[in-house]
Amino acid sequence: MPKRKAPWLIRADFRDDVPIDWDAYPFSIPAVREIGRIAFHPNVTFFVGENGSGKSTVLEALAEVLGFGPEGGSKNMRVQTVDTLSPLHDALRLARGSNRPTDGFFLRAESFHNVASYLDQIGLPGGWGDASLHAQSHGESFLAVLLNRLRGDGIYLMDEPEAALSPQRQLAALRMIHGLVEESSQFIIATHSPILLSYPNAKIIQFDSTGVNEVAYEDTEAFHITRDFLNHYPRRLEQLLADDES
Ligand SMILES: Nc1ncnc2c1ncn2[C@@H]1O[C@H](COP(=O)(O)OP(=O)(O)OP(=O)(O)O)[C@@H](O)[C@H]1O
Ligand SMILES: [Mg+2]
Repeated sequence: MPKRKAPWLIRADFRDDVPIDWDAYPFSIPAVREIGRIAFHPNVTFFVGENGSGKSTVLEALAEVLGFGPEGGSKNMRVQTVDTLSPLHDALRLARGSNRPTDGFFLRAESFHNVASYLDQIGLPGGWGDASLHAQSHGESFLAVLLNRLRGDGIYLMDEPEAALSPQRQLAALRMIHGLVEESSQFIIATHSPILLSYPNAKIIQFDSTGVNEVAYEDTEAFHITRDFLNHYPRRLEQLLADDES
């Protein structure tokens, strides 16, 4: 199956028939207001931006409209332990292509524990590798799902997958994402990881107080703050940890 040349998920925009309070959460978030300006990449679209800029809010709403549970998983799988869903999903309509994917999954490192319990219960033909997901570490089980559950020709949403993964495993995840892209998959990934963001068949959408903007990899904060810190960490630490003389 070749790489997708056109996205399946093309765009998300606000419905005309749903009343929206632009002064209230989540519509008051600048990036949410501009959601219609995001043109999804056929392969990978990254969401980046400061904590609180709205990445998870948008990702969860997209997941809900696509039929995934808010805490993650596949379609038809409802794992919801807390009521965290914003009203955004009710206000959205999605533009989708005709090349409908046959697989899908929403992976959140944050609530992966609950999803792992469910996946262990229903089982997987061929299993998860060596052991139940709960007998593996957070990162191992997360990667086991990536490796064994995602079949390709899929729409995959991920919220901070790096939270479960060591740098070495982030490289492994990058390789797996690439394998799934080659198998005709489309990804939307919210991340702070300078490793994951380096993936070339992708576009990076930055969420900030002005709304949403496409940025180059080397212009992301994740890239330049990490690079600057690693290149100059003795000096940067001195500056950061200096006694305030005022
Ligand atoms: N139920 C709620 N009511 C009001 N505001 C909320 C609610 N849930 C989240 N927010 C606010 O919405 C904003 C966006 O949150 P969101 O979780 O989408 O950010 P994020 O970009 O994913 O951040 P992070 O990088 O920390 O994961 C935050 O300022 C948050 O405090
Ligand atoms: Mg988030």
